[in-house]
Amino acid sequence: MRIAVISDIHGNLDALTAVLTDMKNCAVHRIVCLGDCIGYGAEPEAVVQRIATLGCPTVMGNHEAAALDPRVRGWFNTAARRSLEMTIPLLSPRSLHFIAALPETFEHWNARFVHGFPPDSIWRYLFQVSGEELNDWFAVMPERVCFVGHTHRLELVGSDANRIFRTGLAPGPVCLDAALRYIVNVGSVGQPRDGTPEAKYVLWEPERHRLVCRSVPYAYGSAADKILRAGMPETHALRLLPASWQENWL
Ligand SMILES: [Fe+2]
Repeated sequence: MRIAVISDIHGNLDALTAVLTDMKNCAVHRIVCLGDCIGYGAEPEAVVQRIATLGCPTVMGNHEAAALDPRVRGWFNTAARRSLEMTIPLLSPRSLHFIAALPETFEHWNARFVHGFPPDSIWRYLFQVSGEELNDWFAVMPERVCFVGHTHRLELVGSDANRIFRTGLAPGPVCLDAALRYIVNVGSVGQPRDGTPEAKYVLWEPERHRLVCRSVPYAYGSAADKILRAGMPETHALRLLPASWQENWL
């Protein structure tokens, strides 16, 4: 079985479309979405409806939580809050209903899926968690693997004989040790923050104890221009572009 885990699409329909096309060439059996379908990007309604139509298990991200509860928007920086406040009117009642029904976690295939950090945080970043806390979690972790998003960076965290190791992930295959427990950050489809513009996601093959990190080029300029034309914060448009394009884009 090959399961595609996607996260942090952030209203970027161009990136999501490219990733779904890539999956067709990868014989994917199931898709799981780790939330933050909205915010930053100009096409949140189309993204939510595409995810809803796929019918894949989807958990709530912090941007969905903030869309539903104005009190927590105060935790966002100015640009992120402005983007979200421009996003909400673009969402149909059907999409808002879909978002409101999202669970905080999904567990299946001896794995856990959560936006931020296990067992069920949609707000906590993996980089905020100390080695001691990671050890505490791995000691009680009921599943073999936990998949998270939220940081927008691919990362693998594991525990071997109470020693925590953390490593960034590059595109390509990664073999897991069947005897160990792992947290896998699947990166971001629509707003990567790893210094490269390609859409990122992860394929997981549980029987083979293997990950394959995918890095998918797409029409970065199209997605960036849509953000600018919508009057949404420029910073979220420029971040989508290769570094060499950014200086002359505006
Ligand atoms: Fe995010």
